[in-house]
Amino acid sequence: MKVTVVGAGNVGATVANVLAHKDIVKEVVLLDIRGNFAKGKALDSWQQAPIDYYSTQLKGTDNYKDTAGSDIVVITAGIPRKPGMSRDDLISTNAKIVVSVTKSIKEHSKNPIFIIVSNPLDVMTYACFKAAGLPDSRVFGMAGILDTARYRAFLATALKVSPKDIQAVLMGGHGDTMVPLPRYTTVAGIPVTELIDRKKLNAIVERTKKGGGELVKLMGTSAWYAPGAAAAQMVESIVKDENRIFPCCAYLKGQYGIKNMYLGVPVQLGKDGITKIIKLDLNKTEQKALLKSKDAVKKVIDSFKKMKLV
Ligand code: NAI
Ligand code: 2OP
Repeated sequence: MKVTVVGAGNVGATVANVLAHKDIVKEVVLLDIRGNFAKGKALDSWQQAPIDYYSTQLKGTDNYKDTAGSDIVVITAGIPRKPGMSRDDLISTNAKIVVSVTKSIKEHSKNPIFIIVSNPLDVMTYACFKAAGLPDSRVFGMAGILDTARYRAFLATALKVSPKDIQAVLMGGHGDTMVPLPRYTTVAGIPVTELIDRKKLNAIVERTKKGGGELVKLMGTSAWYAPGAAAAQMVESIVKDENRIFPCCAYLKGQYGIKNMYLGVPVQLGKDGITKIIKLDLNKTEQKALLKSKDAVKKVIDSFKKMKLV
C-alpha cells in the first residue's frame, strides 16, 4: 500500500510519522511545495525507523510523479489559523490549494481514497469531492475523531479515569456549532450522565466546541499531534479493512434530512472508504443542533461555489 500526504507542515509531517510508526504500509510519500522541507521531514522520520523499529519507507518530494499509484491521499496542504481567525477565514487561500492538489494527484493516481484535513474542513472536503470526480465513499474528511478526542480527554481529566475507557459520538461541522452528544457518551459502558453532573458536562461540551481555538491561542497556530494521529487512525482502518466506526466528514444524501453536502456523522471505514453511514435516532434538541451546524457549513459552501473553482 502506498499513502501520500500532501503538506509536510505540522499536521502532514505528524500524519506521516504516526503512520510510519504503525508500520502498516510499504511507503509514505510526503509532498509539499517546499520540496526540501518535505525531503527533510521524510528523511528525519526514516532515520527514526532503526530506533522505533518500523519498515515503512518515507520519501519527501515536490513532484507529483512520485505520488503515482497512491492508494490513499491525505491532504493537509494550506494555511492554518492564527489567533483571531476562524477556520472559515481560510477559505479563499485553501480552496485554491485543495482543488489544485486534488487535480494534480488525479493525474497520477486514478482511484485513490482522499482524506481531507485542510480547513475549513467540511467545505474543503466538498471542494476535493467536486475536483476529484470520484464516488463520495472515496472522499471524506477528518475532524470528528479529533473533536471527539478532545471531548474524551476533557472528560477523562474531570472524571479522573483513563481516556481509553471513554467512548463518544460527536456530529456536525468542524466549527463552533459542532454537536457533541452526551446521550451517546459512555465510560466503560456506563452512561456518562450517571458519573458527572449536568453543569460540569455542559462546561466540557462548550470547551470542546472551542477546543481548536483554545490551542491556537496557546500556540499561535493550530494543533498537530492529535489531528495527525486522528488522520492516521482513519488510514489504518482503511488499510486493515477494519470497518471501525468513527465520526467523519461524509457526503450526505438525505440522511438526517441533509442533502448534497458534507457534514460530520458516524461512519464505518473499510478498504473501499466509507462503507456505511450510521443513522442515529437523534432527539429533537440534537437534530435541531445538527441542522444549525448544517446551516453554518452551508453558508461557507455557498462562498466556495461563488469562487467557481470547479
Ligand atoms: P502548516 O502551515 O504547518 O503546513 C501546511 C503545509 O502546506 C506547509 O508546509 C505548506 O508549504 C504546504 N502547502 C501550502 N500550499 C501547498 C500546495 N499548493 N501544495 C503542497 N503543499 C502546500 O499547517 P498545519 O498546521 O499543518 O495545518 C494544515 C491545515 O490543516 C490547515 O488548513 C489547518 O487549519 C488544518 N487543520 C485541520 C484540522 C482538522 O481537524 N481538520 C486540525 C488541524 C489543522
Ligand atoms: C483544530 O481544530 C484548527 O481545525 C483545527 O485544531
